[in-house]
Amino acid sequence: MAIPRETVEQILQTARIEEVVGEFVTLKKSGARYLGLCPFHNEKTPSFTVSPTHNIYKCFGCGKVGDPAKFLMEYEHYTFPEALRYLAKKYNITIEEEQPTPEELMQRDLREKMFNINEFADKYFVDTLWNTEEGRTIGLEYFRERGYLNPIIEKFHLGYNPDSAHWDAFTEHAKKNGYSEELLEQIGLSIKGSKGLYDRYHGRVMFPIHSLTGRVIGFGGRILVNDKKSPKYQNSPESEIYDKKQTLYGIYFAKNAIAKQDECILVEGYFDVLRMHQIGIENVVASSGTSLTMEQIRLVKRYTKNITMLYDGDAAGIHAALRGTDMILSEGMNVRVVVLPPEHDPDTFAKEFSVEYVSNYLKENAKDFIRFKTELLLKDAENDPIKRGQVIRDIVETISVIPDSIFRITYVKECSRLLDMPEQTLTNELNKILRAKLKKTLGIDDNVVPETDTTTVSPKQEETVEDQLPAGYYQERELVKLLLMYGKEMITDERLDENGEKVYEQVSVAQLIVDDLKMDDFLFTNVVNRKIFDIFDQAIDAGYIPDDQVFVSHEDETIAQLAADLLSTPYKLDQWEKYGIFVKREEDVLRAMVLSSLYRYKDLIIEERRKAVEEELKAATDPADQFILLKQKMGLDALRKQINKELGIVIAK
Ligand code: UTP
Ligand code: MN
Repeated sequence: MAIPRETVEQILQTARIEEVVGEFVTLKKSGARYLGLCPFHNEKTPSFTVSPTHNIYKCFGCGKVGDPAKFLMEYEHYTFPEALRYLAKKYNITIEEEQPTPEELMQRDLREKMFNINEFADKYFVDTLWNTEEGRTIGLEYFRERGYLNPIIEKFHLGYNPDSAHWDAFTEHAKKNGYSEELLEQIGLSIKGSKGLYDRYHGRVMFPIHSLTGRVIGFGGRILVNDKKSPKYQNSPESEIYDKKQTLYGIYFAKNAIAKQDECILVEGYFDVLRMHQIGIENVVASSGTSLTMEQIRLVKRYTKNITMLYDGDAAGIHAALRGTDMILSEGMNVRVVVLPPEHDPDTFAKEFSVEYVSNYLKENAKDFIRFKTELLLKDAENDPIKRGQVIRDIVETISVIPDSIFRITYVKECSRLLDMPEQTLTNELNKILRAKLKKTLGIDDNVVPETDTTTVSPKQEETVEDQLPAGYYQERELVKLLLMYGKEMITDERLDENGEKVYEQVSVAQLIVDDLKMDDFLFTNVVNRKIFDIFDQAIDAGYIPDDQVFVSHEDETIAQLAADLLSTPYKLDQWEKYGIFVKREEDVLRAMVLSSLYRYKDLIIEERRKAVEEELKAATDPADQFILLKQKMGLDALRKQINKELGIVIAK
């Protein structure tokens, strides 16, 4: 649900950085500032400062900077809306959510009922496991036999669903407690057969599946007998509260360890997660047998950028490791793969060896994904030249999804060595793919760059808050980012001179942007953006282009913060970066990017101005005023047309 913009502003203005940070970090006053030990990196002497004047924190050790909301996003891993809600609560600001519709209310009600019945079932399964004869001798005994100890069985709320004569022990119990047949069937705890409802999980040991916040959203149940007709695991069907592609088994219990160790270990099965936790390795979650989804990757990305995939040593396991990894790479994450000895899965492996041995094995065998893939494919291809060609294309394709050009270049070097191929050949192939992708992006959207890049936006709510930011907000920031990142790069500017002749000249990106905006008197509205713009402007006048260091360590912390943010975090609206087109040699791409950003920004501002003039025109009564306004409107229309034409030229390139 959307938070109204005024409320967002009110929250951000009310929140005091020293009060927000002070809840998590011990601060000591030192002059106008506060000092403390940085919560984001390990240090013995404090370099973490909190500035009430600027309402920001900054660590001079690790470089993290931000405002109160940013702090919560970094420290608590909240999304922006979550941070806002936290602050609103802290400062007693009521968020007047838009009134829910009757359908929304019903939906909410249904979800609540579903959580409720799952919690009821969870209690029942746990209770049955520990406190009934059948539960203890069959369920608990099964876990014991496999070497699982009480603390882990308790922590993960493992349970047992009895195997009564009519397979309906749980269903009957639930009905007696007032739960409707309809709900039981909807949530999937019961199945409708010819003789009525029966338990989906009868005679199985139970794994509740928890949401990020620890609520039970579904179950998995493992069969205990040999029965070829039944699957080994029964899982909840999807429902209003259980979306498989968004779920990772164990995330609730693993999230803190993942953040702390800055690494997430990904396994396949329920028992793999349990075993690793039992031996004390807690940053582990399972994809539950299916191939990894984008949503799951983003879930992990809230806590770390490093994923280690730990898969069975058999062919199927290795195959599973290959799936999904391009997706992880395209999110700018680092992927490593550990393959276990052929006879093992993580559960059996960690059962057989000590925790030291397992940790060591992980450390020593974790292979960078690209390297893993290259070696694997090469082995398959052996000396078949056609297959080798295929391998090369395959690998380069994988490299092409990596957003960061520095990493791409590193990988090209590495693969050139592994494949015994000249680096240039691989680079050419890579550039071909990048260009094709760029073209495709440009082709998709007639605005050149899609406004919102839905494939990289994380939670849905975030969009609604940001939708309400002032017009041009992102366009401005995009231009500032271009200034900071590529200000010094030279590109060829192509203009028409007075005689309509094409002239070409080499200019720096900074010069082009600054001149272009000044010429049409388009000055940034955001104060910080404007400050950065002015610094560039003055420097260019003085004959040089400022280094990005000037901004990052600027004494004005709002500048430092923005610069640090823009330079360090990729922008989700930055479709460009996703396609990783920042290869220096690809000057054309940079040029297209700069020009289209400029045009899009100007187009937006003109549209705003045009709307304003139109309003004035409606209100104007004096014919002289009307005339002037009409002229203005026509002028703006013409300008807009011209810009769109230029934009068209850039796109067509
Ligand atoms: P595995 O077949 O590797 O099972 O499936 P496992 O986790 O090692 O289980 P044990 O050790 O034999 O008891 C890996 C995962 O795939 C999903 C489950 O999430 C399982 O943990 N799976 C597997 C199913 O959902 N249904 C199945 O029938 C089999
Ligand atoms: Mn197993």
